[in-house]
Amino acid sequence: MDLASFQGQLDALRARALQAIADAATPEALGDVDASILGRKGDLRALLGGIGGLPAEDRPRVGALANPIREEIEAALTARRGYLETRALEDRLSAERTDVTLPGRAAWRGSLHPIRETEREIARIFGQFGFVVVESPEVETDELNFQALNIPEDHPARDLWDTIYIREPEGMPPDGPRHLLRTHTSPGQIRAMRASAPPIRILTPGRCFRYEAVDASHAFEFFQVEGLMVDEGTSMAHLRGLLDAFAHELFGAGRPTRFRPGYYPFTEPSVAFDIGCVVCDGSGCAACKRTGWMTILGAGMVHPVVLHNGGIDPERHQGFAFGMGTDRITMLRHATRDIRAFLANDLRFLERF
Ligand code: DAH
Repeated sequence: MDLASFQGQLDALRARALQAIADAATPEALGDVDASILGRKGDLRALLGGIGGLPAEDRPRVGALANPIREEIEAALTARRGYLETRALEDRLSAERTDVTLPGRAAWRGSLHPIRETEREIARIFGQFGFVVVESPEVETDELNFQALNIPEDHPARDLWDTIYIREPEGMPPDGPRHLLRTHTSPGQIRAMRASAPPIRILTPGRCFRYEAVDASHAFEFFQVEGLMVDEGTSMAHLRGLLDAFAHELFGAGRPTRFRPGYYPFTEPSVAFDIGCVVCDGSGCAACKRTGWMTILGAGMVHPVVLHNGGIDPERHQGFAFGMGTDRITMLRHATRDIRAFLANDLRFLERF
């Protein structure tokens, strides 16, 4: 081999290499080209390995001829690699493009439990008359659930309102307060009176418990909303007007209402508040036991003993109170037949509201 033929082979290698680089369509193919030309077993090495056949005086010139060509090939490889990588990225980005104009997948939304929704509606209606919602505990003392409400230890009303008693923790004084699951929201009256001063207008909604034989209209766990107003000069007439406005807003403006005499130890006088039957509109049906009326709550003027137990002077302030079963009101609003459905947590039932 002489220098001219070395030069010729070098030029041929350069031309082949540049063409192969330009033809490489993927980074992998380009890697193969790189290895086959510049690699340890590549063409350039092979060519340089043959310089032993050159005359000794020509050998020093080999480097000067070959190096610029190696550099040119390396530069071509680098440029092509950059191009191929950029194009691969662009292809991926355009394949993965998100169409932001497509309609989204709707998130699953829960809804308020029908009892909670009724509770809020009741609070909204009485809220217009200045009543505010306060909380009262579900685990209550015997004193507030019964005694302070004028229901002493031996009162027969306790049979109606039997409940679960809490075992007091070890080490509590034997004559300390006894705890139970509240049977009504009425103890909230005492708490509200003790915590503030007249004028008082509060609602205490919440869960109550009773020893009940469970059937379609009785549950051992149920909900009530209690209302209490204490002020100077409050009267039965105010109570009647307020409850009428409430019933008309919840059950329709034309709905007839009435007071019937009732009895509760914590009110005097006491009434039952009825509305015209929502099923038959008063003509008499099975739902209203042929009376044309349905009782929706108990109410009355707060008993002086109860005012006194709440720290209020009955000579100066009077008040009225009312208590309603939130489940029962919900059943009337939605024509639900079985009270047990509310706590069974069957979504097929709950999603209908
Ligand atoms: N606490 C009564 C019950 O559970 C309901 C009730 C009646 C509440 C009359 C009152 C009321 O505040 O004045 O049956």
